[in-house]
Amino acid sequence: MVKTMEWQHDALEILDQTKLPVEISFIKCTTYLRVAEAIKRLEVRGAPAIGAAAGFAMVLGWQQLMREGKAELQNFAAIRDELIAARPTAVNLAWAANKLYAKAEAMAEQSAEEIAAALEALAQKIYADDIACNKKMGEYGAALLPPHTRILTHCNAGALATCGWGTALGVIRAAHAQGKIDMVYADETRPLLQGARLTVWELMQDNIPVTVITDNMAAWTMKQKGINAVVTGADRIALNGDTANKIGTYGVALAAKHHGIPFYIAAPVSTFDFNIATGAEIPIEERSADEVRRLQGVVTAPQDAPAYNPAFDVTPAELITGIITEYGVIKPPYLENIKKLQLKTKEENFNG
Ligand code: MRU
Repeated sequence: MVKTMEWQHDALEILDQTKLPVEISFIKCTTYLRVAEAIKRLEVRGAPAIGAAAGFAMVLGWQQLMREGKAELQNFAAIRDELIAARPTAVNLAWAANKLYAKAEAMAEQSAEEIAAALEALAQKIYADDIACNKKMGEYGAALLPPHTRILTHCNAGALATCGWGTALGVIRAAHAQGKIDMVYADETRPLLQGARLTVWELMQDNIPVTVITDNMAAWTMKQKGINAVVTGADRIALNGDTANKIGTYGVALAAKHHGIPFYIAAPVSTFDFNIATGAEIPIEERSADEVRRLQGVVTAPQDAPAYNPAFDVTPAELITGIITEYGVIKPPYLENIKKLQLKTKEENFNG
C-alpha cells in the first residue's frame, strides 16, 4: 500500500494524488504554506488525510516561527487560521489544526523547543490513530455486509484519503478479507475523477474485484447488477446525522433508497462536527469552473460557459442506514445517538 504522506521531522513528503494513476511522485513540503497549497490543489485530499497533513503543517509552522524568533501563540494562531481556510468542508482539517494549537496554548509556560517536541509527537499520534480507527471501522462495517456483497462506492475514501487502510474502502478491505465481496462498483466521480483514478487504482493494487462506472450509471447499475450495499466516506457530519461528502453522494443515496439498498457512511469521530445542528450549516466548497468545463485539461464545454462546481453535497440523515465509526455503528435516531458518541469521546479525552 503506497503511503499518502511521510513525516521527515523538518518536512512532510506528500504523494501527489493529482498525478495518479499515471505517475507515482512525491512532493517535499518544507513549509506550512506549501502544505496548505497541496491541500488546496488536492495533491493531498480526503478528510482524514488533510487533517493529518494539517497537523504536520502546524509543526512546520511552529518550527518556522522558532527560526524567525517569533514563536508566540498569536503568530501560531494565524498559521492555524491560514491552514483551516485552505478547504472549508472537511472538518478534520480544523479539528487537527485546533488540536495542535490547543497543545501549544496549554504549554504556554514552557520553552519553544519543548512545545515543538510535543507538537511533533501529537501530529504523529493523529497520523497513527487514524490508521487504528480505520481498522476498527473496517471490522464494524464488514459485519454489516452479507455474503456475496456487490457494493457501490463514490469518490475515494481509501488508504489515499486517510493515513492508510481507508474508511469506506477499509470496510470493503475487511469484508474482502472475509470473502464477502463479489464486486465493488466505483463511480468515476466527476469532475476530478477520484473514483476512477484513485479508488479503482487502489483496489486493483490489492486484487479486490472492482468495476468502474460513470456517475450517471449508478442508479441503473444498482438495478441491473443487484447491488446490495453502498458505502461512502464523509467530510463533515452534523449532530442530526446529515452528512457532507463528495458531490454526487446525495444522488447515490437517493437512488439507493429507491432500490431499498442500505446506504452506509464510514467516518471517524474526527469527521463529526458536534457544533452544528444540521447539514444546512456545513460550508460547501465551490471550486474553479474549469474543473467542470474541462476533463483532465481537455476542453469539454464552451470555454466561456457558465459552470457551477460545488465540491460536496449534503445527504440528509433520513437516507442514511447507518454511520460506521471506530466506536461502532450509529443507527437512527441520529441526534440522540450522535450526542451519546460526543459524550463518550469527551469522557475519553478527559480521562486522557
Ligand atoms: O475533494 P476530495 O477528494 O478531498 O473529497 C474527498 C471525499 O469526499 C471523501 O469521500 C471524504 O473526504 C472521505 S475520505 C475518507
